[in-house]
Amino acid sequence: MYKLIKPSHTSALMATILATFLTACQASQQADKTTAITEPVSKNVQVANADVQTPAKAATTDIVVDDGPDLEFRGTISGDLLDFKDGKGDDTPAVKQFKKTGKNPYNGNESVIKNGYTIFSTACSGCHGHLAEGKLGPALADSYWTYPGNKKDKGLFETIYAGGQGMMGPQKGLLAQDEILQVMSWIRSLQNKDAKPAAH
Ligand code: HEC
Repeated sequence: MYKLIKPSHTSALMATILATFLTACQASQQADKTTAITEPVSKNVQVANADVQTPAKAATTDIVVDDGPDLEFRGTISGDLLDFKDGKGDDTPAVKQFKKTGKNPYNGNESVIKNGYTIFSTACSGCHGHLAEGKLGPALADSYWTYPGNKKDKGLFETIYAGGQGMMGPQKGLLAQDEILQVMSWIRSLQNKDAKPAAH
C-alpha cells in the first residue's frame, strides 16, 4: 500500500519542486533582464565621463575657426579684462571660434549638450539644482537673469568663467574653457526648447 502511494507522493513532491524551480528560474531571468537594462546605462555614464576628460573630441573637427582678432572678455562682477592665460586654457577649435564671435559653436549639438549635462551634474547641480531649477543658486532654466548679459553666450561665459557674487566662484580653475562651452550648450538647450536634460 505504502509503496503504491509513495510514487504519487513523490511525483507530487517533484511537481512542487519543479514548479518552485521554474518560478525561481523566471525570477532570475527577470533579475537578469533588470541587470541587462541597468548595465548599459551605467556604461553610458562612464563613457560620458570619459568624454568629459577629452572634451568634445568628435564635435570639434567640423568647427572652422574664423580669422580676425579675439573679442574682449570682462568679468561680470569686476569688469576687469579676463586674462585667459591663468585659466585651464585648452584652445580647442570651439574655444578659439567662440572668442572671435562670442557665439557658442556647441549650441544645438546634441552630443555636446549631453556631455554638458554630465559636467553640469558634477560641477553645478549641487547649487543650481539637478535640472538647473534653482537651489542655493538661482534657476538657470528660465528666462530671468540676475545679470542681463547672461542672455548672450559671451556674458554667460564671463559669469561662469570669472564667477558671480558670493558662492558663485570662478569656474576657471575647475573647468576647461571647452567644458564651460559644453555646459553652456546644455543651459541654452533648456531655454531654447523648454527641454528636459539631454542625458537620461
Ligand atoms: C557653491 C555653489 C555654486 C556652484 C558650485 C555654482 N554656482 Fe552658479 N551661482 C551660485 C550662486 C549663489 C549664484 C548667485 C550669485 C550672484 O547673483 O552673483 C550663482 C549664479 C550663477 C549664474 C548667474 C545667473 C543669473 O541669473 O544671472 C550663472 C550663469 C551660474 N551661476 C552658472 C553656474 C554654472 C554653469 C556652474 C557650474 C559650472 C555653477 N554656476 C556653479 C552658486 C553656485
